[in-house]
Amino acid sequence: MNITICRKGDDISWDDLADLLHESFQERLQQGLHFSCSYLTANDLETQSNGDVVLVAVDTDDNILAGTVSFEINSKKKDKRAYHYNLAVRPQYKHYGIATQLLQKGVEIVKEHGCEYIISDTAVGAKSSVHWHLKNGFRIVGLKSWTNTNYYSYVFRKQLANDFWWENAIFNKLCFWLSSLKCRLCYHENGNLTRLMKGALWLLDKLRKLVGK
Ligand SMILES: CC(C)(COP(=O)(O)OP(=O)(O)OC[C@H]1O[C@@H](n2cnc3c(N)ncnc32)[C@H](O)[C@@H]1OP(=O)(O)O)[C@@H](O)C(=O)NCCC(=O)NCCS
Repeated sequence: MNITICRKGDDISWDDLADLLHESFQERLQQGLHFSCSYLTANDLETQSNGDVVLVAVDTDDNILAGTVSFEINSKKKDKRAYHYNLAVRPQYKHYGIATQLLQKGVEIVKEHGCEYIISDTAVGAKSSVHWHLKNGFRIVGLKSWTNTNYYSYVFRKQLANDFWWENAIFNKLCFWLSSLKCRLCYHENGNLTRLMKGALWLLDKLRKLVGK
């Protein structure tokens, strides 16, 4: 096995990439976790990745696409961050450090764009992915529920530049705790509003109408 990490070129089609994602996320489907990656078509991928950094890991011995990850860069003055998504490694290539190499290459690139931190997320129940994030310097800072999935997601943050607060484990824990409370009170795992949240919105609407009269 001889792995090369590089940006996706025209020699790799969006169909190849979609195929890799579907194969890699098969284990999540078997766990009952419906990641959007399992359903992305080549067209979805091309549209979603427009302008983003798409990295691939290629086994040059057998010319096999072994892994991929993408980064959406936001280097605006106020929020210099990158969003890490679509991380996938083909089953036979797992546990060889390929996901870690993809992240290292991504870190180099997003730093060149001035990003100070990376945000990522994964299903709470996707244990191997959670371990991978923690092992690679991400910290859990929040909980999120998306409408197109059937699970709560941990939100991770990896600091690239020194930041006193985000380097602090107690601050991270507090952020996670507050975010978790808000998420569980307001949303179900499938992103639908809870009865509590629906009630609160109904009450707000009534109050707004009353005040408006
Ligand atoms: C998560 C994933 C990307 C890791 O890829 P990888 O190339 O095998 O990861 P690396 O070799 O760089 O890192 C291995 C580390 O990840 C974690 N890990 C990977 N598989 C694991 C497993 N089955 N159980 C527990 N931890 C696991 C461990 O921390 C491991 O370190 P260790 O080998 O010292 O225990 C890969 O398993 C995958 O594609 N999974 C399916 C798709 C997915 O979940 N993507 C992430 C969505 S955010």
